[in-house]
Amino acid sequence: MNFEKSGEIFPNSFDFTDKPGKSQAELELSPMNLPHLPTPSPTELTAAQRAELAGLDLDAEILRLKKERNAVILAHYYQESEIQDLADFIGDSLQLAREAKASSADVILFAGVHFMAEVAKILNPTRTVLVPDMAAGCSLADGCPADKFRAWKAQYDNAFAISYINCSAAVKAESDLICTSSNAEKMVLSVPKDKTLLFGPDRNLGNYLMKKTGREMILWPGSCMVHETFSLKRLLALKRKNPEAKIIAHPECEPHILDESEFIGSTAALLKFVQNDSAPAFIVATESGILHQMKKAAPEKELIPAPPEEESCSCNECPYMRLNTPEKVYLALRDLQPELKMNESDRRAAELPMERMLALS
Ligand code: 13P
Ligand code: SF4
Repeated sequence: MNFEKSGEIFPNSFDFTDKPGKSQAELELSPMNLPHLPTPSPTELTAAQRAELAGLDLDAEILRLKKERNAVILAHYYQESEIQDLADFIGDSLQLAREAKASSADVILFAGVHFMAEVAKILNPTRTVLVPDMAAGCSLADGCPADKFRAWKAQYDNAFAISYINCSAAVKAESDLICTSSNAEKMVLSVPKDKTLLFGPDRNLGNYLMKKTGREMILWPGSCMVHETFSLKRLLALKRKNPEAKIIAHPECEPHILDESEFIGSTAALLKFVQNDSAPAFIVATESGILHQMKKAAPEKELIPAPPEEESCSCNECPYMRLNTPEKVYLALRDLQPELKMNESDRRAAELPMERMLALS
C-alpha cells in the first residue's frame, strides 16, 4: 500500500480484506497494514554554504555562536554522536520538554525532530526555536493528520484522547492529555475508568500500555518506522549466541519483540538500566543513537544493537533524526534559521494537554 501525504490514509482506508484467516481486530493491529512512509529528503546545502563551511573548525564556531546568541542546544538521544557531544542537554522526550520549558536562553536549537521543536515552542513561546533541518519529521507524527484524528475521535461518545508526544501540535490540540514513553502508564491510569480511552498515534505503545494497565483503549493504527524494523528471528539467534546479554527494548517496538524483552522503557530508562543492571551485555532494540551515551555511561558493558530484518540496512537509524548534521547546526545558529513559528491560538490549544501531562508527571 502506498502512502501519500495528501491522500486518504487513516484510519479507514486500509484494505483488510486481502488477509484471509485473521480476525478484523488482529488485522487492524498487524503492521502489514501500515503504509510505508517515503524516505525523507534532507535539505541540501547550497554550493555557497558548502564553500563557506570548508576549513571551518565547526565545534569552535558552534561554541562561539552559542555564546553570541545566548543559545542552548537540546539534543535527543537519537542524534548522531557528534551532535550529542555539542549539546548542552541530552535527553528523552520528557526530559527535553522540561528542559525547553525551563530554559532562559534566547535561542533554543532543538537537535531532534519537528514535533520536539514544536513542543519547545508550545512550552516556551517567547524563545526563538531553531531546527537544523525542517524536513526532520517523524513517521508517527506524519501518519496522523489532525483532520483524520478529529474525525476518528468524533466517532466515540464520552471519549478521552491520550496522544503520544510524537504527534503534531495540531493533533495535540485535539487531545485531552499528552504522554511520553516514560510517563505513559501513569497518564493512562490517571483517566477515570468510565471514560472511553482513545490512544494514538503509536499502536505498539498503545498495546503495551493496555497489557500493563489492564485498561482497554481504542488505538490509532500508527507506528514508528524504525522500531518496526527489528527481526524476531535474528534477535532470537543473537540471544542464543549471547545468552548472557539481556534484551532491552523501547515500547515503540512490536509486541513480539517486547515479549522477548527483559526490560522495556523510554530511551532515558534504557540508559539507566544499562548503567545499573549487573548483566555484562545488552541487546538494544531501539534507535542506535542511544548507544553513544550507553557506551559513555557503562564502558565496561557490551552493547549489541538489535538486528533489523535486512542484514545490510541501517534501518535502526531514524532517517529523520539523522537529517541534522553539525554543519546544519552551525548554519542555524549563524542565520537564526530555520525557525519554528506557531500562531498563538494553535499554541495555546496544544499547550493545555501538554501542561496537564507535566502537572501529572
Ligand atoms: P523517548 O525519547 O520518549 O524515549 O522516545 C523515543 C522516540 O522515538 C522519540 O522520537
Ligand atoms: Fe519518529 Fe521513530 Fe524517528 Fe522517533 S525514531 S522520531 S518515533 S520515526
